[in-house]
Amino acid sequence: MPTPPAAAPTDPAAPSLARFGLGTAAVGRPGYITLGRAVDLPAERSVAALRERTHQLLDAAHAAGVRYFDTARSYGRAEEFVGEWLATRPEAAADLTVGSKWGYTYTADWQASGVPVHEVKEHSVAVFDRQIKETRALLGRHLDVYLVHSVTPDSPALTDPALHERLAALAAEGVRVGLSTSGPAQAAAIRAALAVTVAGRPLFAAVQATWNPLETSAGPALAEAHAAGWLVVVKEGMANGRLADRNATGPDTTALRNLAGRLGASCDALALAAVAAQPWADLVLSGAATPAQLASNLTAAGLALAPADLAVLAPLAEPAEAYWRTRAALPWA
Ligand SMILES: NC(=O)c1ccc[n+]([C@@H]2O[C@H](COP(=O)([O-])OP(=O)(O)OC[C@H]3O[C@@H](n4cnc5c(N)ncnc54)[C@H](OP(=O)(O)O)[C@@H]3O)[C@@H](O)[C@H]2O)c1
Repeated sequence: MPTPPAAAPTDPAAPSLARFGLGTAAVGRPGYITLGRAVDLPAERSVAALRERTHQLLDAAHAAGVRYFDTARSYGRAEEFVGEWLATRPEAAADLTVGSKWGYTYTADWQASGVPVHEVKEHSVAVFDRQIKETRALLGRHLDVYLVHSVTPDSPALTDPALHERLAALAAEGVRVGLSTSGPAQAAAIRAALAVTVAGRPLFAAVQATWNPLETSAGPALAEAHAAGWLVVVKEGMANGRLADRNATGPDTTALRNLAGRLGASCDALALAAVAAQPWADLVLSGAATPAQLASNLTAAGLALAPADLAVLAPLAEPAEAYWRTRAALPWA
């Protein structure tokens, strides 16, 4: 297993490892958005092989100092794998925050490709009632954060009073209730969620959104969420691998490669450090598929970026519509 990064960054301006989390979307099921899964995952993507891979990543992340783990009902068996890991490591589990999501149902039946639909979205009371029971059965008392999965401005999660009552009841049990967002209108979804109240009190208290050097449009809304006291978690910080060294090879990413070279960093770590440099970003997820990727991703914790570095990266930003069109065209396998 690769050597984990140094436990504490030397530069006090660098983000600490506690600012990073591990997502399990890439390892809980055989099929996911991919740029290189054929080489990253075991040749046979059996349940046993992906369970072992998930547990390796959780072990390595925890040993390195990561204290936030993210999963979802729709990530195949990811909640099950995380739940098993937590059950066998009670001391580690005691100081972790575990987040999951409901609202997508996994439909790929452990197939990597060739399935018409990998997951079906429905933000209804009926799906919440079913999935919260399933999540509780797998994560038990370790469910700290529960997010409506991939909210867009048209989601009933923003307007359904019956669903809001259910979510308020869960919040009253001590679970931090929130949403994740996807698509070019993330900022509108976040602002609509900020305005949702139940009995005069704000309902949502957490958001997980996409922000990376290519897609920065949600930034101002995420700053508002952070200012409102929400937990702000950033996903897809390396644009699903588009900003990792082996993929960031075109002229559009020259500035990223050059800056990485100057700082002695990997491109993936630089992308994640750029996320961590945002004052509103409480946590930055690594979506590593291998322990080596995780080790490389977590070197972001040693990278203190100056405003001039961030200015070098600013021109990488794409119009949100273009970014999400490209993302939608990435293969699942
Ligand atoms: N709607 C939502 O709520 C939502 C959506 C997406 C993600 N998430 C959460 O956010 C987490 C992170 O998102 P993500 O995994 O989609 O995006 P990401 O972190 O931007 O990308 C991760 C992918 O990049 C590639 N990669 C990572 N490090 C690399 C390296 N050093 N060298 C080469 N390739 C590298 C791997 O893909 P390949 O193996 O394919 O190359 C890996 O699976 C997920 O695990 C999940 O927990 C939530």
